[in-house]
Amino acid sequence: MNRSCPHILDLHPGLPIGLVDSGLGGLTVLRQLRRCIPDESLVYLADSARSPYGERSPGEIRAIAAETAQWLRGRRVKAMVMACNTMNALAADVIRTEAGVPVVSLIDAVVANLPLNSGDRVVVLATAATVASGAYGRAIRHGHPGVQVQEIACPDLVPAIEAGEWNSARLEQVIINYLNPIFQIPYPVQAVVLGCTHYPLISPLLQQLLPWPVPLLDPARSAAMALHQLLQTTGLATCKPKDTVKGTVEFYCTGQTARFATSASHWIGQPVQVEQATLQPALLGH
Ligand code: DGL
Repeated sequence: MNRSCPHILDLHPGLPIGLVDSGLGGLTVLRQLRRCIPDESLVYLADSARSPYGERSPGEIRAIAAETAQWLRGRRVKAMVMACNTMNALAADVIRTEAGVPVVSLIDAVVANLPLNSGDRVVVLATAATVASGAYGRAIRHGHPGVQVQEIACPDLVPAIEAGEWNSARLEQVIINYLNPIFQIPYPVQAVVLGCTHYPLISPLLQQLLPWPVPLLDPARSAAMALHQLLQTTGLATCKPKDTVKGTVEFYCTGQTARFATSASHWIGQPVQVEQATLQPALLGH
């Protein structure tokens, strides 16, 4: 065995990293991981059959979080990224308990990297469940005292993106309505956090419809850096010699695999193969 790659408990550097989301959103996290740690192999679980999570109750989201974390654990991953802010906001404790491996949180990662000072203003766009949980507001105010946070729920965006509606006149109008409260906030606003992993998929449209120029922050960038650091400090970073074979990605989907494959191929710019994953049918549908 290579001595620079120590085994930690039963984890070792050759294992993949697990990601879970309700569908396409986690691809924005996957994209950042491919940029930051291209040698690592990934297992991606798209729980499309139960999308959108953001319209579910906290109890359902916590039950789904437990089940998906156990499923990924069953795939023998060495670390997990909660590639879904809604799970992160409502069930971070559940995922950490069930994962049995180190877990990276989008919310913790982006809050640690926010370039904010006391008195600054920040807007968070997220799902209804994430906004109702208040998790982003709490974390930002805790990490950056004196910062004003406005959280805005955008419940129709995830269903539209999942349905392939990425740039329609209807979607524009939906976004304009969601952004309405922003016009009441005194300018400048220092940042808009995309607090749902689906939203970076439509960031050009969001940028265009915001009333002022402002950085749109994608928490996945911070999460990728946090994961990179975690793998280094735990000795779990893959030991592949540089510039040889890149990491692989395995895709699983609880919903229609062919449909997810088509959309995922579009977003990541290459054909993907998707296998069916079977999870608890009790929580399927609404
Ligand atoms: N993409 C997820 C998030 O970051 C879940 C969205 C949903 O299913 O409502 O919140």
